Amino acid sequence: MPGEGLEPSWAQGPADFESAASTNSATPALGPQHAPTGVRVKQGLPQALRRAIIASMPSAFRRTQPWDALLTEMDRALFFVFCKQPSSRPYPAEGVQDARPLTQAERRLSAALMRVNHAGEVCAQALYEGQSITARDPAIAARLRKAAEEEADHLNWCRRRVEELGGRTSLLDPFWYFGSLAIGMTAGLFGDRWNLGFLEETERQVEAHLDGHLRRLPEADRRSRAIVEQMKIDERGHAELARSLGAAELPDPVKTLMRLAAKVMTTIAERI
Ligand SMILES: [Fe+2]
Ligand SMILES: [Fe+2]
Repeated sequence: MPGEGLEPSWAQGPADFESAASTNSATPALGPQHAPTGVRVKQGLPQALRRAIIASMPSAFRRTQPWDALLTEMDRALFFVFCKQPSSRPYPAEGVQDARPLTQAERRLSAALMRVNHAGEVCAQALYEGQSITARDPAIAARLRKAAEEEADHLNWCRRRVEELGGRTSLLDPFWYFGSLAIGMTAGLFGDRWNLGFLEETERQVEAHLDGHLRRLPEADRRSRAIVEQMKIDERGHAELARSLGAAELPDPVKTLMRLAAKVMTTIAERI
């Protein structure tokens, strides 16, 4: 029947990315598909024409189906793994000069460490997404998505620095993404307090990991250091956000397990 079921977001009259995202909880906050929030989009087709096209579609195409959510996740994964993400904040290395030209060995080491950080940010996007899918309180899901936007800056910065250093991102990024998505969804199934507890512990471990990188990065590589230092500040903020929202303290064995999983990921990503 004409007008039956849900309309696709492009058919909902004048809209912007933010309103499109808010109408569908399965749509990432980085809307159609992933432009920064606050950017207005001109609708390409007149309203009457859009409605006529919808009316002519079989009803199966006008209702949200389970595979819509699956396709949204696939689209999101492809975007975060293979595309350059928009950054909402200035590049921390902008205007920062290395102490001296880096040697070949220093460039290789820095590129490897920044590749690990990029892979970690791919994981962060998937964890936040997974956790927001299974979060019970919509307000918490919304905060998780908001924090994920800030993490998108980190992805952008790490990718940019890896490229400046002549390196490449991890070949296993798709694997990191889907593994982390499954872990994030699982964490959410335990309830919001544990979900937030998992987030807080993840962020605390990332902060400690970044401290380790600040010790390993060549002293002369001031551009990478500027990026890592800003990320460290942000990660601490995410941990404090989780705590303020009511995170539960995870049992020590779970923390140890998380540390082991992170160690496996960082060790592999430094090489592949
Ligand atoms: Fe991050
Ligand atoms: Fe974070």
